[in-house]
Amino acid sequence: IDIKALRGSTKGVITLDPGYKNTGSCESAITFLDGEKGILRYRGYSIEELAEKADFLEVAYLLIFGELPTQEQLDKFHADIKSHSVVDDDIKKILDAFPKSAHPMGVLASLTSALTAFNPTSVNVDSEEEMYNAIVRILGKFPILVAWTMRKKHGMPLDYGSSSLGYVENILQMMFKNPTSDYEQNPILINALDKLLILHADHEQNCSTSTVRITGSSHAGLFVSLAAGISALWGPLHGGANQAVLEMLEAIKEDGGDTKKYMAKAKDKNDPFRLMGFGHRVYKNFDPRAKIIKVAANEVLSDLGVEDPILDIARGLEKEALEDPYFVDRKLYPNVDFYSGIIYRAMGIPVEMFTVMFALGRLPGWIAQWREMRLRKEPIGRPRQLYTGETYRPFKSIEKR
Ligand code: ACO
Repeated sequence: IDIKALRGSTKGVITLDPGYKNTGSCESAITFLDGEKGILRYRGYSIEELAEKADFLEVAYLLIFGELPTQEQLDKFHADIKSHSVVDDDIKKILDAFPKSAHPMGVLASLTSALTAFNPTSVNVDSEEEMYNAIVRILGKFPILVAWTMRKKHGMPLDYGSSSLGYVENILQMMFKNPTSDYEQNPILINALDKLLILHADHEQNCSTSTVRITGSSHAGLFVSLAAGISALWGPLHGGANQAVLEMLEAIKEDGGDTKKYMAKAKDKNDPFRLMGFGHRVYKNFDPRAKIIKVAANEVLSDLGVEDPILDIARGLEKEALEDPYFVDRKLYPNVDFYSGIIYRAMGIPVEMFTVMFALGRLPGWIAQWREMRLRKEPIGRPRQLYTGETYRPFKSIEKR
C-alpha cells in the first residue's frame, strides 16, 4: 500500500468499528500473529524458538532493528545501554514525593514521562542516529525506574545494580539486592525472567502499542509516548490482568477453593465478574505464550521447591473452562497473563509489580513500533466518528435554561 497515496484521502466513507476489531491502523513488519491458529512470530522467528534459544536483549535488538544481532552488534548495543544506566538524582526526589500507597504503574508512567525533562535531546528525534541514542537511553534507564518503584514501595534504599552483569541479571539485582549482603544470582530466576520478558516483548497493535504509536504520531517524544503506553497497559482488561488473575486466584482460595462457583459467576450475564486471564481479542485458540508460560511455571515452582496451592486452582479453572460449552463456544482460552503471575510470585515479586514487569518486557516492542511508525513517516493518527448528538440549536441564555 502506498501510504503517501492514502494521505489526504479523507473524503471516503467513514467505517464505524468500535474497539477497532476489524480495522488495521498501519502496515507493520515486526510481529506476525494468527489468532485462529495460535501463531506468534517476531520478525519471522517463532515465539517458541525465541523463548528457548534467545535472550531478552537479543530479542529486543531483533524487534527494534529487524535482524538478530551478531555478537559484535549485541556487545555494542549492550555497552551503549549500560552507558546510559543512570538517572538524574532529581528523579529520586520525584519518586520520594509519591505516597507509599501509590500504584507502581502510576509511578512508572510519571517517572518515564519525567525523564524527558532530564534528557531534552531525546525529544525531537528525526534521524536514525538520534532515534538510536534515545532508544539506548530508555533501555538503560527504564529498568532502574522499574526496580526503584518496587524498592520505594517496600522501603528499600535505591540501588543502581552493577555494570558487570547481564541485562536481566542486573534487573534482578537492582530489584532485590539487600544493602547489607551480596545478592546471590539464581540461574533459574534469571532464565524464568528472561523467558517471561521475551514472551511479553511485542504483540502487534494491542491497546498500549496502538497508544504509543498514536501518541508518537504527533511527533511527541519517545519517552512520553512510552508513558502513554504504560498508562494504557495498566488497565485490568490489558496488562493489569496479571495482577487481577492472582488476586482472583487468591480470592478463590480464601473462599474455600470452589472453582465451580467462580465458573458459574463468570458465565452469569448479570454478574460483572469475568474469569481474569481468559479470552483474548485476537486469539481464538490457545495463546502460544500461555502454553510456554504454563510449562515454565511448573518448572520454576518445582526447581525452587515451591508448592503453591494457587497453581492447583489455576489448573482446575483451566481444565473446567476447556470442557465448558460457554468458554468453548466463545473460544475463551487462557491468555499470557493466566500463568505469568504464578511465576512472578514464586520469584518473590509483589503482586502490584506484575504489570510493571509486563511493561518492562513490552518496552522493546513499543520502541520498535514507535521507530517503525516514525521511519515510515506515518501521518498523525486521527480516527473519525459518527456524530449522534443534537442538530443545530440556538443558544439559550442562562436565565431561560
Ligand atoms: N470471562 C467470562 N466471559 C468472557 C470473558 C471472561 N474472561 N472474556 C470474554 N467473555 C465473554 C463476553 O462476556 C462475551 O460474551 P457474549 O458474547 O455472551 O456477550 C464474549 O465472551 C466475547 O467477549 P468480548 O468482551 O466481546 O471480547 P473482547 O475481544 O472485546 O475482549 C478481553 C477481550 C478484554 C481480553 C476479554 O476476553 C476479557 O475481559 N478477558 C479478561 C481480562 C484479561 O484476561 N485480559 C488480558 C488480555 S491479554 C493481554 O492484554 C495481555
